[in-house]
Amino acid sequence: MGLFARKKRPAVPVDRAVPRHIAVIMDGNGRWARKRGLPRQAGHKVGAETFRTIATYCKDIGVQYFTVYAFSTENWKRPKEEVDALMGLFRTYLKEAAETMFQRGVAVRVLGDLTPLPADIRALIREVDEIADRLGPDAATASLCINYGGRDEIKNAVRAIALEVQRGALAPEDITEDTIGARLYTAHMPDPDLIIRPSGEIRTSNFLLWQSAYAEYYFTDVLWPDFKTRDMDAAIDAYNKRNRRFGGV
Ligand code: IPE
Ligand code: IPE
Ligand code: MG
Repeated sequence: MGLFARKKRPAVPVDRAVPRHIAVIMDGNGRWARKRGLPRQAGHKVGAETFRTIATYCKDIGVQYFTVYAFSTENWKRPKEEVDALMGLFRTYLKEAAETMFQRGVAVRVLGDLTPLPADIRALIREVDEIADRLGPDAATASLCINYGGRDEIKNAVRAIALEVQRGALAPEDITEDTIGARLYTAHMPDPDLIIRPSGEIRTSNFLLWQSAYAEYYFTDVLWPDFKTRDMDAAIDAYNKRNRRFGGV
């Protein structure tokens, strides 16, 4: 740098602690579109762009795990054309992930019951998974929850444990909280520290029920397609002011 060259202001606040695991319920795409007289799908498209921006930002500021709720086990109730549009976006983003994640150093994972998804999407998820495995456990992780439901996830864990007990591989008295945690989609991740829900709704809608036991929640009226890096900063600042006691004093 030249002697009088102006130092570039860092894009990211440098002296701020960031949560290790941030999760987002990406909500409000439909309302964003309706406000503009557009079809709901248009909101999902812009919401997907927001995902790209915010996931990149989280990686840049040092968030190790970034997890988003993209499609719930209840979202199949929506009109077929909306579901198809969402599947189309997953296709696009998974293809992009497969092409770029190694060079970006971000392990993309998909969490949820993948069995009802179209076969080509399942194949893309397998491809992305293999690349993520090669990146290793220290890479920043971006997880997309697709056909994810917290109750469904716990039900599947209970079923797996019941089968092990039936086979005689596990004794009921040896079942611990870790036995359950290890059979969830998030088995290899720490619990979320901060869960953000935009769009003004104050509910979990079946997201990370087990894992959120001691998460800090942050709610904002901003609709997800309007969510900017400054909104993420505001959420992290609010988080940093909280006093997490985990039941202690
Ligand atoms: C969230 O936005 C995206 C998904 C649930 C897939 P919505 O589509 O729920 O948007 P609103 O809540 O109708 O505004
Ligand atoms: C939660 O949003 C699911 C996702 C963001 C993927 P919804 O829009 O489906 O939740 P409800 O219906 O308002 O509770
Ligand atoms: Mg919604």
